[in-house]
Amino acid sequence: MNQGRTVIKKIFKEIRFLFKKTSTAKKTPPIDEKIQKKQRRFIAIASGKGGVGKTTIAANLGAALAKLGNKVTIFDMDLAMPNLEIITGLGTPPVGLIDVLEGKLELEHVAYSGPMGSSIIPPGVMLDGYSGDNPGKIRELLMKLPLKSDFIILDMPPGREAVDVLWGEIEALLVANPDKASVLDALNMKVLLEKKGVKVLGAVLNRAENDERWIDEMERILETRVVAVIPESRVVKKALLAEECFVVAEPESPPSKEIMGLAKEMCD
Ligand SMILES: Nc1ncnc2c1ncn2[C@@H]1O[C@H](COP(=O)(O)OP(=O)(O)OP(=O)(O)O)[C@@H](O)[C@H]1O
Ligand SMILES: [Mg+2]
Repeated sequence: MNQGRTVIKKIFKEIRFLFKKTSTAKKTPPIDEKIQKKQRRFIAIASGKGGVGKTTIAANLGAALAKLGNKVTIFDMDLAMPNLEIITGLGTPPVGLIDVLEGKLELEHVAYSGPMGSSIIPPGVMLDGYSGDNPGKIRELLMKLPLKSDFIILDMPPGREAVDVLWGEIEALLVANPDKASVLDALNMKVLLEKKGVKVLGAVLNRAENDERWIDEMERILETRVVAVIPESRVVKKALLAEECFVVAEPESPPSKEIMGLAKEMCD
């Protein structure tokens, strides 16, 4: 009886030893190491033509990335016509980026709390926009960004105005609607961005209406992948009226699923 027990004990000991050996061989890196390896990413949401949906996509993509557990900061780079604050329900914040550039406040003081725990940086009352020293100062501030973020989303103004602020570390998503002018303007923007060394990740076809043809057309003209197709939807309008993000208000809607899919792909 006793002998039998000793044999069983011995077998268990061997199994434990073997298990220990294999599990050490497959050991995954400690969490700290993983976090250190993870780099912050700047994503500019850009277009040639105005009104194609950049701010809508910047806010909702930011919320979606935050929902997936990332630390997200969204900058409203449209200094003259800021809109991000409306979509995210902030109203008209009294201070913003301008106060930081003027040395009156630290960036932390103008980081407002946005959807899903993201942070929003509004421009504040920026009377001279991108003139004077501002582009250089903004670029420097972004480069040395004192806020801890996995993703920094830049909601760009239309056209070339803010492109000078960007540099090679930045990645971009182009936004266009299913019409030729919008896609050709996106192409101009792509050329401009690439001249700056910005890597174009792909294009978002926004306000699509069951028109597969446009996906191929966009990929052909822009020579980049269409990474998301967001339908024309009343969910987007409703969310804008309610000053909230549709990925939060209506997570099961087609535009939300598409944005969530893009956010997941960006985290892989
Ligand atoms: N998929 C969509 N379905 C319905 N309406 C949409 C959709 N996308 C954007 N819109 C509407 O289009 C308008 C312009 O959107 P938005 O402000 O995001 O564009 P923008 O590119 O940021 O404009 P700007 O160039 O002026 O900064 C808004 O009223 C918005 O609600
Ligand atoms: Mg906008």
